[in-house]
Amino acid sequence: MAATETPIQKFYKNTNVFITGGTGFLGKILIEKLLRSTEVNTIFLLIRCKTENDIKSRCEKIFDSEVFNKLKQHNANFKQKIQPVEGDCALSGLGLKSTDRNELINNVNIVFHIAATVKIEGNLKYSFNINVNGTKDVLDLARDMKHLKSIIHVSTAYCNCPYKVIEEKIYDCQMCYEDYKTKIEKCSETEIATITPGLIGKWPNTYTFTKALAESLIKEHATGLPVAIYRPSIVISTYKEPLEGWTENFYGPTGVYAMMMAGLLRLALADLTKDSYCIPVDTCVAGLIATSWDCSIKFEKSSDIPVYNHVPVENPITWGEVDNLVKLNIDQYPLLNSFWTPFLIVTSNITVFSILKIFVHTIPAIISDCVAVFTMNKPSALKKYNQIHRFVIAISNCSTRNWDYSTDNISKLYEKLTIEDKELFPMSVTTIHWLRFMKNYTIGMRRYLFKENDSTLENAKKKYRRFKIVNGVLKCVIVYVFCNLLSSAMRKFT
Ligand SMILES: NC(=O)c1ccc[n+]([C@@H]2O[C@H](COP(=O)([O-])OP(=O)(O)OC[C@H]3O[C@@H](n4cnc5c(N)ncnc54)[C@H](OP(=O)(O)O)[C@@H]3O)[C@@H](O)[C@H]2O)c1
Repeated sequence: MAATETPIQKFYKNTNVFITGGTGFLGKILIEKLLRSTEVNTIFLLIRCKTENDIKSRCEKIFDSEVFNKLKQHNANFKQKIQPVEGDCALSGLGLKSTDRNELINNVNIVFHIAATVKIEGNLKYSFNINVNGTKDVLDLARDMKHLKSIIHVSTAYCNCPYKVIEEKIYDCQMCYEDYKTKIEKCSETEIATITPGLIGKWPNTYTFTKALAESLIKEHATGLPVAIYRPSIVISTYKEPLEGWTENFYGPTGVYAMMMAGLLRLALADLTKDSYCIPVDTCVAGLIATSWDCSIKFEKSSDIPVYNHVPVENPITWGEVDNLVKLNIDQYPLLNSFWTPFLIVTSNITVFSILKIFVHTIPAIISDCVAVFTMNKPSALKKYNQIHRFVIAISNCSTRNWDYSTDNISKLYEKLTIEDKELFPMSVTTIHWLRFMKNYTIGMRRYLFKENDSTLENAKKKYRRFKIVNGVLKCVIVYVFCNLLSSAMRKFT
């Protein structure tokens, strides 16, 4: 802790914080940072009970991650500050027991509503329940809180993707929350699939649609509450804190590059000239923490709901640059357990994608499934590639377009921070050195996603060189066979 407290540290000192989504990627980094850089009193974590895992053991599991090692050194007793609360955003009233609800309304000062289903094309009923009804229930709970200072709703910079210009304001949806709720709730599971395209309209998927609805619900229902909306773009691994290159999920570009590293994905759908809008998760969390402080100050002066677009427009990196840097780094940090030489063809054209996928994925998958059948194993490659293709197409809405984001609120917030807070909460995208970041991103995928120890690197490099030779020979054979076929076909015609 700094010798004298910074304004943000003073804001958090002795507060009780309620977090939904604390078991997820962003949530873990937020918990870690709050406990390491501020003196919060208690963090209440809303955790849903999953099969045979009670919430205490799920809560314990969060802290098994290597991402908490630094905190463990800093404060061995940090777990005393954590209080798990059983709940589920898909259930009415967040599924809270009345004793837990009372404890929250009597004690909580700061709320971070992070929980969401991030399934891009999830069932609309399911996504609506968690992302929209869950947000309504968080607002209802917050309204009863007696000592509330701020609530931050974590949205996404993509929730207004049907528009070209994205300002830091809440956009209206076609209907109000109640009308959507009535329509969605009265549908059966089978009917919902039929009416989904009509209901989501110009939104490309249920994820961005329900995140947009949650925002418009906040505009309708949060009057009088100290609420703000925080919209990060594509959140990827840590830049520096608490360790470099840490990541734990396969969403978005991380999934694409991880599958490429493993030699499984050879084709992606993206426009290499477009900005990628990637933002490291620690930069994001620093912004989130600062946003809560700013929201409570703003609420004293105005009842407007502040919106913060945390998008790296001042320090952009294109998909082409990301692609080059990942490929360069994979040469240095290959995987030991890869299936083939990593290579990735990137196209922005869906027709080209559909043709190429037959050659680079489907045919090899069919061969692999045939081998599996002959060796009495279960064939699964083709099924997996169909899933991968759906995933690549689903995320292509983000990887083939650009938007004009306004980021005034987030920039002004950064300017408001003292020098000490800027150092403690480095939320500015301008401080990101992408070369360094991409190197650690690749090392991080190797270490934390694939759990490959650094000591395996030399063997991995040897295997990588062998794969490259085999791959080169194979390419020559394919070109030779193709040329022969072409020339014999031409001879037949002439
Ligand atoms: N990752 C990105 O690139 C990105 C970009 C922009 C915005 N965001 C937003 O950031 C937030 C967090 O994303 P993330 O990347 O951290 O996702 P994540 O790793 O999938 O975490 C999602 C969290 O939400 C919780 N959750 C889901 N359904 C729930 C339910 N019914 N009740 C209670 N908790 C539930 C999950 O809990 P369980 O452990 O129980 O599943 C988990 O803790 C989301 O609101 C997302 O929209 C993410």
